[in-house]
Amino acid sequence: MDFKEELSCRSAFFERSLRTFCEEERRRIPARLREAMNYSLLAGGKRLRPILCMAGAEIMGEKAESVLPMATAFEMAHTASLIHDDLPCMDNDSLRRGKPTNHVVYGESLALLAGDALFLDAFETALAGLLKNGAEPQRCVRALALFAQALGPEGICGGQVLDTDRASQTDERDFVVDVASMKTMVLIRASLCAGAILAGADGEALRRLMKYGENVGLAFQIADDLLDCTGSQSAMGKTLGKDEAQDKRTFVRAYGLDGARALLHEKTLNAEKQLEPFAEKGAFLRALAAYLEHRSN
Ligand code: IPE
Ligand code: IPE
Ligand code: MG
Ligand code: MG
Ligand code: MG
Repeated sequence: MDFKEELSCRSAFFERSLRTFCEEERRRIPARLREAMNYSLLAGGKRLRPILCMAGAEIMGEKAESVLPMATAFEMAHTASLIHDDLPCMDNDSLRRGKPTNHVVYGESLALLAGDALFLDAFETALAGLLKNGAEPQRCVRALALFAQALGPEGICGGQVLDTDRASQTDERDFVVDVASMKTMVLIRASLCAGAILAGADGEALRRLMKYGENVGLAFQIADDLLDCTGSQSAMGKTLGKDEAQDKRTFVRAYGLDGARALLHEKTLNAEKQLEPFAEKGAFLRALAAYLEHRSN
């Protein structure tokens, strides 16, 4: 199987499990809230974070299935962050994953609450599912702590403040690194490492995976900023050219197109280097980093 086939197998595997999860007659969620949550969750997307979470378990010798509830939680929280990111008070976007944004369909109040609901339901989904799978409670606590940290004031929440609050911004070139680290990198790093922790990762192996996640996470936002300038709107499924229009602190603005491309390449090489001790077991993550450098969506 070549890498692209493998990637689409992995995302199809997650997609099937996510659909089953969304169709389950779970608890008493108001029908419209459930509809708004599922609208964005099932709209597609690359499913990068769950793929990383499952790959983290696999590189430590566990089956992907064992961490599916954690992988689902990462996709739920990521989707919530996109719903909020698109709100009129944030980036004010009307297209996401090739469809009208959540607030365009359901209104701002429901979109805000669907995001909140997804963030919090993610914790319940992860905990209940992992314990049911027989995961070690100690490992669950460590994985969920990393997850919470990636969503809170040191993670997405903090990063989105740096991205949108003028009074928090500085003119230093590397300010953009702080923004991207918090709003994007920490969740990507946590996805991989929570999967690995659940499979028993510790010490040097975990340090290496954290470094890989840090480099791929930053590379991912550099590519997102580049694609906002040079990508195809139909491939990306979102309105492009918005960063410049909204005067965002992007890597392209700080480093120029060529400078941003060079930085993207450097981060990708750094990520690949972290996998050396894993030898053959690192093959998928190695190919993933290389693929993400040249992604078109
Ligand atoms: C978009 O994330 C937001 C960023 C952190 C750059 P993705 O590019 O992973 O979006 P989906 O999940 O594929 O829609
Ligand atoms: C996304 O950054 C960060 C999030 C936490 C969602 P962007 O605002 O650049 O993401 P897109 O380009 O809208 O997907
Ligand atoms: Mg944004
Ligand atoms: Mg945005
Ligand atoms: Mg962007």
